[in-house]
Amino acid sequence: MSIPKDYIESIDLTKEQILAIEELAMAMKAAIKEDGFYPHLLRNKSLGMIFQQVSTRTRLSFETSMTDLGGHAQFYGPGTIQLGGHESLGDTARVMGDLLDIMMARVNRHKDVVGLAAGAACPVINGMSEYNHPTQELGDLLTMLENLPEGKKIEDCKFAWIGDATQTCFSLMCICTIMGMDFVQFGPKGHQLTDGALQVENKVDLLEIGNKLCAVSGGTITISDDIECIKGADFIYTDVWYGLYDDEVSGTSYMDVFYPKYQVTMDMMNFAGPDAKFMHCLPANRGEEVTDEVMDDPERSICWVEAENRKHSIRAILATFGPRTPLNDEGVEYASKERLHAALAKIEELQA
Ligand code: CP
Repeated sequence: MSIPKDYIESIDLTKEQILAIEELAMAMKAAIKEDGFYPHLLRNKSLGMIFQQVSTRTRLSFETSMTDLGGHAQFYGPGTIQLGGHESLGDTARVMGDLLDIMMARVNRHKDVVGLAAGAACPVINGMSEYNHPTQELGDLLTMLENLPEGKKIEDCKFAWIGDATQTCFSLMCICTIMGMDFVQFGPKGHQLTDGALQVENKVDLLEIGNKLCAVSGGTITISDDIECIKGADFIYTDVWYGLYDDEVSGTSYMDVFYPKYQVTMDMMNFAGPDAKFMHCLPANRGEEVTDEVMDDPERSICWVEAENRKHSIRAILATFGPRTPLNDEGVEYASKERLHAALAKIEELQA
């Protein structure tokens, strides 16, 4: 299976392909951050960024990544371009696909990013929908790979999602089970992956998707409202209880549903295990789904490097799915040169 034209969901990729993208992310992170060498792999290329929802991390990561790679990014906020209004989505996709070299879209409805990908000649990357958040998955996997417990491989790790079955929860279920990890959702009935709004709205069996991934990888899925399920977790992850999308829990009732049982506290972290690391896709509502003590703990919290890794992983996503230009390092010496060339060669092999 070759790497597809678009990045809409990680289940379209194999474990080997995902790990190759992560290795490229790490090689470029070393080249830029440690060696000061900027690989202009998208020289003179233009990225169009459609945002129907607000964003800090995703927007900044895509925009700065294009600069790092020698290209340019254009931002289109709500109401600034035609998107299924005076022009059909297919027509917009066709025109944008010819004017741009690569597109990303954060959309209100998942079918719109699928439609953009179907209609555009250029690659389209899903910057989050109400259904999933694949670029978050790759940033989070990169963070877990960089923070593996001593002596463990990624497939030996246990991941515990705390709280609501948001689109990011579903995304983390996918990436963890593709890797062969043990995935747990500790959440209240009515907000579990098997019965939440995400499943109903999108009319898909999320657990069936996860179980198919587990059958390939050897991963497992556990969904429970019993805190015992998080024992032994290497990574504890949570998300806001009140999010961007209108099918999430209403502002008036969410504290009653989740607080205090599902708030990530230091007691919960210690119950999971003495070395469990804390992750959060951010933005966070401090004092709701997580305490300040956990979020700011320099040993336990890796949510800050996780946020930075959005950029490092998005560079690799752009360099994988975008129309690459040749590496501009002839005669340039930098420590990570061999690693970067090897990582790119692996991507090219997987795209052949
Ligand atoms: N985690 C995430 O997607 O952050 P933004 O909404 O700020 O992009």
